[in-house]
Amino acid sequence: MASSFSCSERTKLTWMLALLLILVMMLRVDGQSGFLSVDCGWTDSAGSTYNDSATGLPYDSDGKFMEGGLSSKISAEFIADAGNEQQKTLRSFPDGKRNCYTLPSAIGKKFLLRAMFSYGNYDGLNRSMDGSPFIFGLHIGVNFWETVNLTNLDPSLTLWKEVLTMAPANLLSFCLINLGSGTPFVSSLELRPLGDAMYPFLSTYVSVSYLRRFRFGDAAEYITRYPVDNYDRFWEGWSFSFNTYPWISLNTSRPVNRLNSIDVFQVPEVILQKATTLDTNYSFMEVSVEVGSNLDIRGMELLPIFHFTEIAGDIPNRTFNVYSADELLFQDVSLSPMRVESMYPTNRFLTNRFLSGSNTTSFMLRKVPGSKLPPLINALEVYSIVRTDNLTTSSEDVNYMKEVKKHYNLGRNWNGDPCSPREYTWEGLTCDYSNGNQNPRIVRVNMSTSKLRGVLAISFFMMASLENLDLSHNNLTGTIPNYELKSLKVLNLSYNQLDGPIPNSIVQRFQAGLLDLRLEGNPICSKGKYMYCSNTKNSKHVMLTAVIVPVVLVSLLVVLGVLWKVCQKGKIK
Ligand SMILES: *[C@@H]1O[C@H](CO)[C@@H](O)[C@H](O)[C@H]1NC(C)=O
Ligand SMILES: *[C@@H]1O[C@H](CO)[C@@H](O)[C@H](O)[C@H]1NC(C)=O
Ligand SMILES: *[C@@H]1O[C@H](CO)[C@@H](O)[C@H](O)[C@H]1NC(C)=O
Ligand SMILES: *[C@@H]1O[C@H](CO)[C@@H](O)[C@H](O)[C@H]1NC(C)=O
Ligand SMILES: *[C@@H]1O[C@H](CO)[C@@H](O)[C@H](O)[C@H]1NC(C)=O
Ligand SMILES: *[C@@H]1O[C@H](CO)[C@@H](O)[C@H](O)[C@H]1NC(C)=O
Ligand SMILES: *[C@@H]1O[C@H](CO)[C@@H](O)[C@H](O)[C@H]1NC(C)=O
Ligand SMILES: *[C@@H]1O[C@H](CO)[C@@H](O)[C@H](O)[C@H]1NC(C)=O
Ligand SMILES: *[C@@H]1O[C@H](CO)[C@@H](O)[C@H](O)[C@H]1NC(C)=O
Ligand SMILES: *[C@@H]1O[C@H](CO)[C@@H](O)[C@H](O)[C@H]1NC(C)=O
Ligand SMILES: *[C@@H]1O[C@H](CO)[C@@H](O)[C@H](O)[C@H]1NC(C)=O
Repeated sequence: MASSFSCSERTKLTWMLALLLILVMMLRVDGQSGFLSVDCGWTDSAGSTYNDSATGLPYDSDGKFMEGGLSSKISAEFIADAGNEQQKTLRSFPDGKRNCYTLPSAIGKKFLLRAMFSYGNYDGLNRSMDGSPFIFGLHIGVNFWETVNLTNLDPSLTLWKEVLTMAPANLLSFCLINLGSGTPFVSSLELRPLGDAMYPFLSTYVSVSYLRRFRFGDAAEYITRYPVDNYDRFWEGWSFSFNTYPWISLNTSRPVNRLNSIDVFQVPEVILQKATTLDTNYSFMEVSVEVGSNLDIRGMELLPIFHFTEIAGDIPNRTFNVYSADELLFQDVSLSPMRVESMYPTNRFLTNRFLSGSNTTSFMLRKVPGSKLPPLINALEVYSIVRTDNLTTSSEDVNYMKEVKKHYNLGRNWNGDPCSPREYTWEGLTCDYSNGNQNPRIVRVNMSTSKLRGVLAISFFMMASLENLDLSHNNLTGTIPNYELKSLKVLNLSYNQLDGPIPNSIVQRFQAGLLDLRLEGNPICSKGKYMYCSNTKNSKHVMLTAVIVPVVLVSLLVVLGVLWKVCQKGKIK
């Protein structure tokens, strides 16, 4: 009876959590194409969203996605020149090593997450120009993503970082890491769901970070994004880049053939309808890709994705090879008219592609002998690989700890994943990572002397791996909940205001020698002389002799008795 009651209690909680998540999902997915856009640090008394004047997309304030931090405006001299509303405000995190935003997502779904950083001298310290390093880190979930390096950066500029990633859970966290070289901040966050088949190399273990994304031919704007791109990717116009070749721009208005089942990149048609080529007396085209000089390119592994469509005519005579440095990536590329062809190295990532001291890597498109026309290109994406093999804490444990945090209204910096990465484990928690390919579990919670008030949260008892719980020296009131304990071996509730009765489930576990229970300093102990009310550290051993010895003795007697009876019977026969 007791166990079936507790089972249903637990099921109920799981259901409630599931329902909450579904509700959150529904709330979020109603917007434009499932987009979530957050203007960090922006607050408005009238409403909690506004529509961006350029894209029409609704932007939320960030209050419901994180805790803590300070909201600020960039300095007045930069406000007038801000490119959009999001650049005007930001949220900074002077406290704590790690501060996370938690965004609603869906497990196994692919997302583009873009974070923007406009310093704008918001703190009046001229921090990016004072000569000292101004660097902080970013985590995507529980994995290191990239550093944001604002050293020597003009304070009016905006940096943006983009990652394509597969959500490890129904929540996706984005964390800012204080590296001791300046206060982390963020100006906006944009989460865009991608199609399931898109970017097929993405997995739980591999994400990619944006380096550059170009469209070729003549583009009217420096950046092409939503609504031209359904996924709100930023495409920079190549014609806006410095270049030395006599580039020729091509365009067409004919539809580009895109078989949806194999078009895993969904490049917008208007982008594919334009291309860059050369005059026919040239034989090769070098596409140089420059990355910010403030990026750490050491050890970077690159993944370029080329998009080609023959738009010059119906019977073209164009064949070319594609090289990265001196390495041949694709041989004899020959395009069908009005049909997109997307190519990327499938079996490896490219390493050591930057010459020392240079922030440029280049790709060469060279026509093969016998080809009449020189190469052509429509679009190019270049990413660097982000390994995301660190595991998140078991979601069950995460949910219970979140309940605890809410139950006691804890203001402490319990932020992001409880156990991962290891060096950012929540204060007071001990986790078990020993099962390498499984999610870490919480085995010990020590919230002794944490000013806890109210009743003992049942969530603690539901955590299937928790072995050691220390809630001593708090102000817990009420009774101890009756719940079948799973793995708890140490339960220290001493010096609280807990009253009886002590549930049978706990008494039994204690008497069986499976639980080290400490209750001294509670009203419950003024009502009788229980063993767990003494503060002897060895209550377990006392109990061992008190319980196990008699058990052994009784068993021995029974065995002896049976033997004696058997012997007697033998004698009678
Ligand atoms: C934003 O645009 C939507 C339609 O696109 C409209 O329904 C909504 O009222 C607008 N919100 C604001 C705050 O203007
Ligand atoms: C910031 O520092 C730079 C370099 O020291 C200086 O040229 C500039 O005037 C400073 N700006 C402000 C607003 O103090
Ligand atoms: C994975 O976790 C380990 C320890 O928890 C940490 O040192 C390492 O930096 C993490 N890896 C990434 C990619 O974040
Ligand atoms: C498209 O190409 C033609 C020449 O083929 C040119 O006259 C026209 O201006 C181009 N249009 C655009 C929008 O670039
Ligand atoms: C190619 O031809 C163009 C004119 O069509 C000329 O301006 C250019 O100098 C030539 N380039 C080479 C490398 O011969
Ligand atoms: C690459 O480095 C050069 C020299 O340090 C710098 O002028 C240029 O701005 C950098 N490129 C980008 C895209 O930041
Ligand atoms: C940060 O950027 C500055 C200026 O571009 C550069 O000198 C420095 O090496 C960068 N630091 C790191 C860690 O990338
Ligand atoms: C392409 O042009 C070359 C030289 O003009 C010619 O030899 C070759 O046969 C042509 N190829 C095709 C497929 O038309
Ligand atoms: C919990 O932490 C306190 C000090 O903060 C320590 O005295 C106590 O032994 C810890 N409890 C356990 C079970 O480790
Ligand atoms: C419990 O609360 C009382 C006041 O309500 C306070 O005086 C006492 O210090 C608290 N005890 C602990 C251990 O926090
Ligand atoms: C609570 O009891 C456990 C087990 O006896 C002990 O290890 C721990 O140190 C105690 N906590 C405090 C704060 O004394």
